[in-house]
Amino acid sequence: MKRKQIFFLLIPLLLLLASVSLSLSSEKDTTKESDEKKGYIGAATCQGCHETQYESYKKSIHSKKQVKGPAYKEACETCHGPGAKHVEKGGGRGVDIFDFGKKVDGTARAARCLTCHEETRHLANWSLSKHSIAGVSCNDCHSVHSPRDKNLKIDQPDLCYGCHMNIRMQMNKQSHHPVKEGRISCSNCHDPHGTFGDHMIKADTVNELCYTCHAEKRGPFLWEHAPVEENCLNCHNSHGSNHNKLLVRKPPQLCQSCHAENGTGHASNMYTAFETFNGAATGSKNRMFTRGCVNCHTNIHGSNSPASGQRFVR
Ligand code: HEC
Ligand code: HEC
Ligand code: HEC
Ligand code: HEC
Ligand code: HEC
Ligand code: HEC
Ligand code: HEC
Ligand code: HEC
Ligand code: HEC
Ligand code: HEC
Repeated sequence: MKRKQIFFLLIPLLLLLASVSLSLSSEKDTTKESDEKKGYIGAATCQGCHETQYESYKKSIHSKKQVKGPAYKEACETCHGPGAKHVEKGGGRGVDIFDFGKKVDGTARAARCLTCHEETRHLANWSLSKHSIAGVSCNDCHSVHSPRDKNLKIDQPDLCYGCHMNIRMQMNKQSHHPVKEGRISCSNCHDPHGTFGDHMIKADTVNELCYTCHAEKRGPFLWEHAPVEENCLNCHNSHGSNHNKLLVRKPPQLCQSCHAENGTGHASNMYTAFETFNGAATGSKNRMFTRGCVNCHTNIHGSNSPASGQRFVR
């Protein structure tokens, strides 16, 4: 009795399996046919003449993950487009193949990659990015035929310095963010694919960016120093400076650019030739003693000391 039941159950199951495998094989046949009509021929043919690129592609993430695209099911032609005509004519530079060359418009090159990468989180703002707008494209920074991390043509920061020579200069200044020491990289602060923030920084505002690594500067403070809350770059450079601690100017001039003598309770105004050189004669007018403002105003980013924190001296 039980055996019979199992047998009757098996029959429909077998029938189902048979029909599934039938429909699968017929699907395969039709895609193969339409592939040929559209001019796709498969990687094996390309390999015959482009062994080097074939090998490098094999080592790439695109191959390892067996990535299939909407345009074509696999390999070379997902990016280079259908290759039948190229092969018929015996190949050649620019012969009926999409070659990502410098002459090809940047947007058109990016479009090839974006057929799949539109969904990649980092690329959501690509079309708004300065790079995209300036015509810089994916393969100015990436090469699929490169075994490096993230398929980068060369590693950061040299990749970026290739076009941003002024930033290399800034990063070589006496005080600098430790990029050349390899402790952070450009892409810790910028997303080269674009962001909502200005200058493609990885946060909505400069301060939010700085807080991601300098959290202790966020506060909250009982006594806030207004320019700190407003923008760290009121006093600091982002890349490098010839003054200590990335400062835009050195104290006391930095402080005095905002704090005139009026209402400071002690001398904090600009040193003029008159005041410094006549100091001996006019004693009380010598401002030299207040030169190192931060020697006393140590908590310059804000203070939580109820007593005299208001003046950032503790
Ligand atoms: C057929 C779809 C497809 C196309 C076309 C495509 N990619 Fe990809 N790419 C992928 C997939 C899928 C991954 C793996 C993503 C993952 O693991 O999260 C990937 C990964 C990557 C990575 C990450 C590498 C790593 O080490 O993490 C880079 C960089 C990349 N692609 C660049 C490109 C560039 C540049 C182009 C155009 C020249 C391109 N891709 C075209 C699907 C595609
Ligand atoms: C994910 C996209 C992608 C895939 C897949 C891909 N390529 Fe490329 N290929 C590129 C890009 C982008 C370039 C431009 C190279 C550059 O800018 O560094 C390129 C360049 C080339 C070149 C020119 C070489 C040169 O040094 O200028 C050849 C030839 C080539 N690919 C063949 C192939 C072959 C063969 C395959 C399959 C085995 C393949 N590609 C798979 C994106 C791809
Ligand atoms: C019969 C040989 C042959 C076959 C097959 C072939 N190619 Fe080529 N291809 C060439 C030759 C030759 C060149 C010119 C290379 C050069 O001048 O360095 C070339 C150039 C290219 C270029 C442009 C390189 C450049 O620097 O401008 C790309 C991209 C390319 N082939 C991709 C493919 C792809 C993808 C396939 C498979 C669909 C393929 N080729 C199949 C012979 C072939
Ligand atoms: C100006 C240089 C530059 C351009 C242009 C560029 N990228 Fe990138 N891309 C990078 C760098 C640098 C990284 C590595 C970022 C990191 O390590 O945080 C990266 C990483 C990636 C990754 C891996 C992301 C991840 O989450 O791991 C993908 C995918 C990618 N890029 C695809 C693209 C595509 C597609 C384009 C064109 C639409 C493009 N990139 C244009 C520099 C660039
Ligand atoms: C600690 C964070 C940080 C790092 C690391 C960093 N940047 Fe910046 N970058 C910024 C901020 C903030 C701005 C916007 C304010 C400004 O102009 O200084 C900026 C502005 C820029 C600008 C536009 C303004 C200009 O001076 O041309 C470029 C280009 C730039 N960065 C490239 C780079 C490159 C390339 C690297 C790596 C060598 C890098 N940045 C590393 C934070 C950073
Ligand atoms: C192929 C050349 C090229 C490469 C490589 C390149 N950039 Fe750019 N970058 C440009 C161009 C062109 C612009 C737009 C013009 C400008 O603002 O200088 C730009 C703009 C920027 C800006 C915005 C500047 C602003 O004022 O808003 C930042 C930030 C930036 N790049 C960072 C990087 C980083 C980080 C890298 C390396 C991962 C990099 N770039 C690699 C060419 C390049
Ligand atoms: C990705 C992490 C990161 C971000 C974001 C970041 N920094 Fe830094 N910053 C560092 C590191 C690492 C150092 C080196 C600290 C050390 O040597 O102990 C540093 C050092 C500094 C120094 C001291 C420099 C010196 O010469 O001693 C200042 C000032 C500074 N950062 C300001 C900023 C400002 C302003 C921002 C926002 C524009 C910012 N940082 C964003 C990582 C970061
Ligand atoms: C009003 C000017 C001013 C502003 C605005 C400012 N700083 Fe500073 N910062 C200084 C001075 C002055 C020093 C040097 C202190 C010293 O030499 O003892 C300094 C030093 C630093 C240092 C290195 C020493 C330390 O305290 O860790 C970091 C990091 C730093 N600032 C981060 C920031 C961040 C992040 C912001 C924005 C939230 C910011 N600063 C805004 C004036 C300022
Ligand atoms: C970009 C302008 C700016 C710079 C640069 C600046 N400050 Fe300030 N500072 C202010 C403002 C605005 C206030 C708030 C004034 C108020 O509340 O009346 C303030 C408040 C203060 C106070 C508290 C004064 C009070 O009346 O409560 C002290 C002390 C102070 N700053 C010291 C410094 C020192 C020391 C430096 C240099 C390291 C400096 N500031 C750099 C703008 C600046
Ligand atoms: C020898 C220590 C010392 C030095 C150096 C110093 N200050 Fe002060 N500063 C103080 C003290 C203490 C107070 C608080 C005075 C009070 O509460 O009456 C103060 C108060 C201030 C105030 C607020 C004054 C008010 O009336 O509200 C400002 C602004 C200020 N200092 C700026 C500066 C600047 C700018 C420099 C550098 C040019 C500087 N200080 C150098 C100790 C110093």
